[in-house]
Amino acid sequence: MKVVTTLAEMRELRGQLAGSVGFVPTMGYLHEGHLELVRHARAENQTLIVSIFVNPAQFGPGEDFASYPRDPERDLALLEKEGVDFVFMPSAEEVYPQGFTSWVEIEKVSERLEGATRPGHFRGVATVVAKLFNIVQPTRAYFGQKDAQQLIVIKKMVSDLDMNLEVVAVPTVREPDGLALSSRNSYLSPEERQAALVLWKALGLAQELWDKGEKSAERLRQEMTSMIESEPLAKIDYVSIADPETLEELEEVDRAALVSLAVRIGKTRLIDNITLGE
Ligand code: PAF
Repeated sequence: MKVVTTLAEMRELRGQLAGSVGFVPTMGYLHEGHLELVRHARAENQTLIVSIFVNPAQFGPGEDFASYPRDPERDLALLEKEGVDFVFMPSAEEVYPQGFTSWVEIEKVSERLEGATRPGHFRGVATVVAKLFNIVQPTRAYFGQKDAQQLIVIKKMVSDLDMNLEVVAVPTVREPDGLALSSRNSYLSPEERQAALVLWKALGLAQELWDKGEKSAERLRQEMTSMIESEPLAKIDYVSIADPETLEELEEVDRAALVSLAVRIGKTRLIDNITLGE
């Protein structure tokens, strides 16, 4: 496994590769969720490139960019075990040199949910992912279903801007009790970790009610909201039942629907989702 830190070297190495290239972009502090992406990419491509870059452009003022967990040595050891060929770890100066002024904006789908609560977040994500795609030129790029809106934004960018690659969605990896894996879970105290289960329980409730025939999206949102509000450490950012492509809120769940939520547990903001009626 080779670690590459400059754009110039990454481009040169890419130029020498024949066959399919799988790419997994990450911000590091890897967990089983990331490793699942890596395993899918390893199985489906001749060469596997993983990037580790904590992208300052996708964090808003007052968000956790400075304190975002980082452990590059551990990350590299994990990636080596998974048979990764190249790890691209550029510096912020390499990615955003002085005078950088170009941004990628995906309208509409970026403006709802996470985008409404975190203005500018998806502009930062789309810009860095577009840059990484340009540098790495992957055949296939792998993203987790846990960040459902990110996946939708990236698929839209790839389609709208005619990018020549396949975006592959990989199912969310969960702890045995249902909590979705996230680097931010490391912020939770033991008491908060227990409280965080309310996200999975609320999604389970939506699934159960829908299975029993409840098709009113408002009723489902209300039931989920009451369940989350019964957890004293939880504070809701949003509970959404939306069209899985446009992210427009639904009135009736009479077709596939993305049920997603963002909840603060103490100071930690967690997101999760399921799809009904796939
Ligand atoms: O999902 C992430 O970790 C990040 O948003 C990504 C896609 C690596 C872009 O910085």
